[in-house]
Amino acid sequence: MAEPDGGESPAAVPPGAGQPCQGCLNEARRRFLTRISIATGSVAAAAVAIPSVGFLLGLRRTPRLWRDVGPVAQFALGATVQVAFADPSPLPWAGVTAQTAAWLRRTAEQEFVAFSVDCTHLGCPVRWLADADLFMCPCHGGVFYSNGEVASGPPPRPLSRYPVRVADGRVQILASPLPIT
Ligand code: FES
Repeated sequence: MAEPDGGESPAAVPPGAGQPCQGCLNEARRRFLTRISIATGSVAAAAVAIPSVGFLLGLRRTPRLWRDVGPVAQFALGATVQVAFADPSPLPWAGVTAQTAAWLRRTAEQEFVAFSVDCTHLGCPVRWLADADLFMCPCHGGVFYSNGEVASGPPPRPLSRYPVRVADGRVQILASPLPIT
């Protein structure tokens, strides 16, 4: 039947016409989530890879810094004591591990020797046993003489040593990365 003004009657619009179909919405959502996943994964991979690549290429150099561990007079001649000092290149999240230590012995008025506390087997901290005049590793029974040489057990090498100097009446240790194994 014709409209009173002579125009055509509008075609009947089915419900939901003009709306995107549900399948299309699901597909778009899937594509969006896939892109988010790829972007997040890429950022995470870069966060891991960039420092690793920098380390492998030698771009991240560990500084070597002299660390003050106290006045000369504080150390008795012949005594071996543990001294703590700050790691020269702690990572921002290092926390207490940013502190490291050495066994320091005063061998003369102005001379000192400093041994790493890390066992050369697997890196456990060694203890100084003054009565036995030995360093002992509690992990696998490694034993080192007082000069750091291996006495027995699995350690393959003597204890590493840090350079030590006396400056202005104070003892300083050159903090630098030492090989553990
Ligand atoms: S870590 Fe010291 S003996 Fe194994």
